[in-house]
Amino acid sequence: MIPTDTPHIPVLLREVLAALAPQPSGVYIDGTFGAGGYSRAVLEAAPDSVLYTIDRDPSAIKTAEILAKDYGSRLIPVQGCFGDMDTLLPEMRGKIDGVMLDIGVSSMQIDDAERGFSFQRDGALDMRMDPESGQSAADLVNTLPEEELADILYRYGEERKSRRIAQKIVAARQEEKITTTAQLAAIIRTALPPKRPDRIDPATRSFQALRIAVNDELGELERGLAAATRMLKPGGILAVVTFHSLEDRIVKNFFRDHSAPKTHVSRYSKTEQAAAQATEESFPLRLDMRKPVTPEKDETAANPRARSARLRIAQRSSAPFP
Ligand SMILES: C[S@@+](CC[C@H](N)C(=O)[O-])C[C@H]1O[C@@H](n2cnc3c(N)ncnc32)[C@H](O)[C@@H]1O
Repeated sequence: MIPTDTPHIPVLLREVLAALAPQPSGVYIDGTFGAGGYSRAVLEAAPDSVLYTIDRDPSAIKTAEILAKDYGSRLIPVQGCFGDMDTLLPEMRGKIDGVMLDIGVSSMQIDDAERGFSFQRDGALDMRMDPESGQSAADLVNTLPEEELADILYRYGEERKSRRIAQKIVAARQEEKITTTAQLAAIIRTALPPKRPDRIDPATRSFQALRIAVNDELGELERGLAAATRMLKPGGILAVVTFHSLEDRIVKNFFRDHSAPKTHVSRYSKTEQAAAQATEESFPLRLDMRKPVTPEKDETAANPRARSARLRIAQRSSAPFP
């Protein structure tokens, strides 16, 4: 991930807004407030709408509280994990018109060296989106058994040299505790061939893997999809933007498992159409399209971070969801 020092640019904003189609007096949840790009757009698009805005990062919530001054009681900041949205807002279950999730970290988090997300900036090896809870990346690299470390690097970073890197980490920590991003990046680089000019830095995959592990990002995404389905009212929209295949697969599978299987229905048979509609209504989600929405060329040209983004959209039906 490249530090940018630019404000966070919302990705696929046009497409998310088109999917959500915010209505005046609608009630929405932004599960990943970040810099508030999505939140602001919804509040502006639908004049009397109300938006609950969640983030696990206390500094994002501070930004939300400042923004709330412009929107009064229409913007309600909530600090916590989107995977818990149904327990954070129990009174709103089944009453929400749309939920947005924009997975991953914000530019502000990457750019702040002290948060420890970027190997291109030396800082404390932390990587927690909520610095007040859970174990930091330094805790993991200094304490996990070698095999568990290798597993994390392989599963979440798709790092083929995971065992070699884990070995180097364990050898290095016996000499000296690993406390900074620069220290860890240097150790990882000793396990891999030097960076070629046309390739990503060899430390990229391992840093991604540790960040995912520290924040239990894939577990959170699974819980978040289920929690969002519980929050939506029939007809409500769930829009999820992901940035790598591990995340996109979770969304794709969740949507597939909770919507009607695709079948061919004759345009001419009213009976087949009625049967297909009844089947569709017995699943908690409806899918208009099975392929993800990807950014247009103008967006990727203006914001390289958007290149790997995928948006998937589902609509809540009236079928029960556990
Ligand atoms: C990519 S940014 C969102 C940017 C936002 N859409 C915007 O337009 O500014 C992701 C944000 O989600 C937050 N986040 C990530 N995972 C979270 C989770 N499980 N629960 C709550 N917030 C989360 C991060 O702290 C970060 O602020």
